Amino acid sequence: MQVNIGQTTLSNPVVLAAGTCGVMGEIGDAINLASLGAITTKSITKDPRIGNEPVRITDLPHGMINAIGLANDGINAFVEQYASKAASLPTIVIGSIAGDTIENYVAVATAMNEIDSIPLVEINVSCPNTANGLEFGGCPKQLSSLLNEIRPVLTNTGMIVKLSVAAGDIRPHAEAAINCGANALTLINTIPSLGIDVESRRSIISRGIGGYSGREIHPVAVRVVHEVYHDVAKEAAVPIIGTGGIMEWEDAAEFILAGASAVGIGTASFVNPSIAPRVAKKLATWVNRQGCLRLSDLVGAMRLS
Ligand SMILES: Cc1cc2nc3c(=O)[nH]c(=O)nc-3n(C[C@H](O)[C@H](O)[C@H](O)COP(=O)(O)O)c2cc1C
Repeated sequence: MQVNIGQTTLSNPVVLAAGTCGVMGEIGDAINLASLGAITTKSITKDPRIGNEPVRITDLPHGMINAIGLANDGINAFVEQYASKAASLPTIVIGSIAGDTIENYVAVATAMNEIDSIPLVEINVSCPNTANGLEFGGCPKQLSSLLNEIRPVLTNTGMIVKLSVAAGDIRPHAEAAINCGANALTLINTIPSLGIDVESRRSIISRGIGGYSGREIHPVAVRVVHEVYHDVAKEAAVPIIGTGGIMEWEDAAEFILAGASAVGIGTASFVNPSIAPRVAKKLATWVNRQGCLRLSDLVGAMRLS
């Protein structure tokens, strides 16, 4: 069940997604983190951010809309409070970073790179660039400009690039990330969405548009993983962390068949934190049932005819 990302080996393919398990694995109060391949931190920015006004998260019948606004205490506080915690956790810690300028991303990446017990950094590129208002991940050229500055400072850590489907067909973006040295791709982030309360006629979250996550985004995420795997990542041998709407082990297995080497779980942990450990266990029995020796035998093994 092991998965290699860059120089790092995850004991199994289940990863907790950024921003959904605490700043750094506080969900470990409820579950045994040793049962997971990795956890991802909240996205950390250079300066502290209070995030958006409440209501900034709300649930819908089959998912959730959030616009947290990257609330976090900034990289200096993160290093002070969490660097030693990372060393004490019984799983791999992926440090997620975000920013509004290339310089800010590079500053956070540089600090993350110094934390010995964080071997992988995930670049959240679904952030508006203050220079032009467009998301860094929105176009391959802008994405490359960002990653070409970040990659050289990640001397001790692997680089994971997390993409959003807001940009439409993201195969060119995935290719750009791989050309810039990505060791893995996380697909996908939340999907821009809007819910309206028909009595107050206001958005159901205060910021208006937010990111949709949970069960209903799953088929979209599976399609994206399938396309990126076959057209870009397979040949480059770059693993994909399939993320979006995993509520049960079958959803994770679908991602593997579509071409993911690992899977990310977010919203499901809000429903029941023990879903992720259960998915890890059940995936292992599925691999056996399929008559395979290794999980990797099933990566991209969807029958196409
Ligand atoms: C409350 C909440 C906060 C999130 N915060 C972050 C974040 O800080 N950085 C990031 O890259 N993604 C963040 N995400 C996106 C998730 O990591 C994940 O990509 C997305 O929710 C899809 O997976 P899911 O359907 O399993 O939740 C957040 C999602 C939720 C629901």
